[in-house]
Amino acid sequence: MSEQQNSSLDVPLGRIVLVAATAALGGFLFGFDTAVINGAVGAIGERFGVSGFLLGFAVASALIGCAIGAWYAGPVADRLGRIKVMIIAAVLFVVSSIGCAAAFSVWDLSLWRAVGGLGVGAASIIAPAYIAEVSPAGIRGRLGSLQQLAIVSGIFVALLTAYALVAAAGSATATLFGIEAWRLMFLAELIPAVVYGVLAFTIPESPRFLIYRGQRQRALKVLHKYVGGDVERTADEIERSFQGRTERPKLSVLRGPSRRIYPIVWAGLGLAILQQFTGINVIFYYSSVLWQAVGFTEQDSLIITVITSVTNILTTVVAIVLIDKVGRKPLLLVGSIGQFASLAVLAITFATAPVVNGEPLLQGAASPVALIAANLFVVFFGCTWGPIMWVMLGEMFPNKIRAMALAVAGAAQWAANFVVSTTFPALSEAGLGLAYGVYTFFAFVSIFFVIKFIQETKGETLEALSERDG
Ligand code: GLC
Repeated sequence: MSEQQNSSLDVPLGRIVLVAATAALGGFLFGFDTAVINGAVGAIGERFGVSGFLLGFAVASALIGCAIGAWYAGPVADRLGRIKVMIIAAVLFVVSSIGCAAAFSVWDLSLWRAVGGLGVGAASIIAPAYIAEVSPAGIRGRLGSLQQLAIVSGIFVALLTAYALVAAAGSATATLFGIEAWRLMFLAELIPAVVYGVLAFTIPESPRFLIYRGQRQRALKVLHKYVGGDVERTADEIERSFQGRTERPKLSVLRGPSRRIYPIVWAGLGLAILQQFTGINVIFYYSSVLWQAVGFTEQDSLIITVITSVTNILTTVVAIVLIDKVGRKPLLLVGSIGQFASLAVLAITFATAPVVNGEPLLQGAASPVALIAANLFVVFFGCTWGPIMWVMLGEMFPNKIRAMALAVAGAAQWAANFVVSTTFPALSEAGLGLAYGVYTFFAFVSIFFVIKFIQETKGETLEALSERDG
């Protein structure tokens, strides 16, 4: 087993950050793509004369694409390499952006949203895998967290873009330069998509993938330039970690010699699903329902949404500072407890509020309490589970199964996101207290999940982790 690497670096930090940041740009598109629909959805309903289920389908179709994209990105990453997946994702983003902007029906739009979803799903798993594979162990958590920073920045920029376009055009269905504002929202995605695709050509292929493909010399060069230390030894260790792995990427690699699925795969699945089942995206996707229930006007609720999204960016910075010092497991545990407490307060506040015209009416102190609890939930999520789930999915699996295991966990994460987002409207009709009660329950489960199933990955090389879990 290799020794724990210390955090002193042999290579210039700026060089590694640039490479990790390029891969993380996929996260920016992930955030932008999942959030842009919020600004456009009203106008789409109006333009195509749809509402209810059909409109919901236009929103949810992207999430189905995400799950499929994450699933297939695994085998493609093992066959063609990590960089090719980024380039394919960038092409999907470009096609989807133009397709959505030019859509002539809600079906057509849903199709292009799903195509963009394939890109989001692929980008969501390739960034953690690639960043973990090119990073020195001592700062791997920080570099991996750049993906979440990019995701939340993407959400924020999408919000601002939608806001600016509506302000300039007068409404989301009004035109600007002869094009309806909502169409321009989708078209705006073209810029980061092209930047991502072009920059992907400038970064090196993952040394772990190169060794897996028998290209040791090329891998040594990358290790030398980006990881440093005793590169020959690292290359040997990587080679050893791939022993017994066949050329063709197959799902069966997730089963150990005893034909049982490796426990680490279950741990990854649990992380991915629980991150979603505590309901973070309900806060992001349905923020207006929440804030208007708390008693704010539509205008106020937009401002609060912007504040929440800035909070999410700032808390991710906190995670970047702490993740390689404190470690993943303690942070996840604090996050679980904090999320549980804040969600419980939200659930109780809504459950005990009097119902007026079918809606809970928060009076007196209840309204600020709910506002603070919801934002505290975002704070706990942003410092812990938000970035750490993605960082750990990138690093926790042994080299031989990384891409496939990540594909499965990533797809499960998107499927869980789909389940939470599509069930929220019905749940909240039955009562917001019930909806938040369900998320509180999963936050509670997550406390025990972390204690029992999560093993610390801080500071260890991927090969040391591979030996531990493979
Ligand atoms: C994480 C989640 C994603 C969520 C985002 C918001 O990346 O995986 O679903 O939208 O955080 O901060």
